Amino acid sequence: MKSVTITTLKDMKREGEKIVCLTAYDFSFASLADNAGVDLVMIGDSLGMTMQGNDSTLPVTMDEMAYHVRCVARGVKRAIVVADMPFLSYQQNREQAILNAGRLMQVGGQVIKLEGGEPMADTVRFLVERGIPVCGHIGLTPQSVHQLGGYRVQGKTRDAGERLIHDAKLLEQAGASILVLEAVPAVLARQITQALTIPTIGIGAGRDTDGQVLVLQDMLGIYPRPSPKFSKNFMKGADSIEDAVRAYVKAVKTRSFPGTEHSF
Ligand code: KIV
Repeated sequence: MKSVTITTLKDMKREGEKIVCLTAYDFSFASLADNAGVDLVMIGDSLGMTMQGNDSTLPVTMDEMAYHVRCVARGVKRAIVVADMPFLSYQQNREQAILNAGRLMQVGGQVIKLEGGEPMADTVRFLVERGIPVCGHIGLTPQSVHQLGGYRVQGKTRDAGERLIHDAKLLEQAGASILVLEAVPAVLARQITQALTIPTIGIGAGRDTDGQVLVLQDMLGIYPRPSPKFSKNFMKGADSIEDAVRAYVKAVKTRSFPGTEHSF
C-alpha cells in the first residue's frame, strides 16, 4: 500500500482520477476513512462547528488544532494528512505563519491549508520555499464569514470570477500544491481547474474539480444544524458508517457525486 503524497495527487489530476477527501478530527474516524479509500484526510477548522458547536470557525485555536491533528495523524496510514491553519494563526506575518505551520507539521500534518488569495501569496511562497507544502483555499472562505456577509456562493459576477481565477493562478505560482474551491459556480470551478496544473478540490464547486471534499458530519447526516445544499447524506441506504464512507468514495471516483442538485 503506497502512501499518498503531493506528487500522487498531481499524477491523479493528470490521469483524470478523482481525489476523494473527507474531514476527520479524531483517531477512529481518521482510521476508518483511511481504510475506506479516502485519499486526503483533512483536519478542517470546521471542527469549531462540528466538534465544538460554535456558529463559525473563528474561535478555533492553535492548541485545539494541534490536538486534533495529532489524534488524526495516528489513524492514517495511506492518505495524505492536511491540517488547517486556524483564524489568526497566519495572517499577521510570515514568521507567525511558519511557526504555527511548523507546529502542525510536527504533530503529524503533511500539508497545511490556509484561506485567501492574492494577499496570502507571499506567505504561501515563504512557507513552500522552507519545505512546508501548502493547500490554498479560495471562494467561500469561512474565516471571512463576517466580511463576506454570510456563507454565500462566491464568484458569481464576471469581475468576482476573474478575481478568483487570478487568485488561483497566483497561489499556484507561489508554490501551493493543492487548491480548495468552496461554494463557487461549477462553470468557474471548471475554468480554474483547467487553468492550473495543481489539483483543485471542490466543495460546492460542481463536478469538474479534480477532487471533492465533504465535512464528515454532513456526509453522515449527523450535524444537528441545517447542512449546506452541496453536501449529501451517505448514511441513507448504508448499513454502517464504513459503508457510507465507502459509498462516498465510490460516488466521487465514479463521478456520480456531486450532482447538479449539489452545485451552483
Ligand atoms: O474546515 C474545513 O473542514 C474545510 C473544508 C471543508 C474544505 O475547510
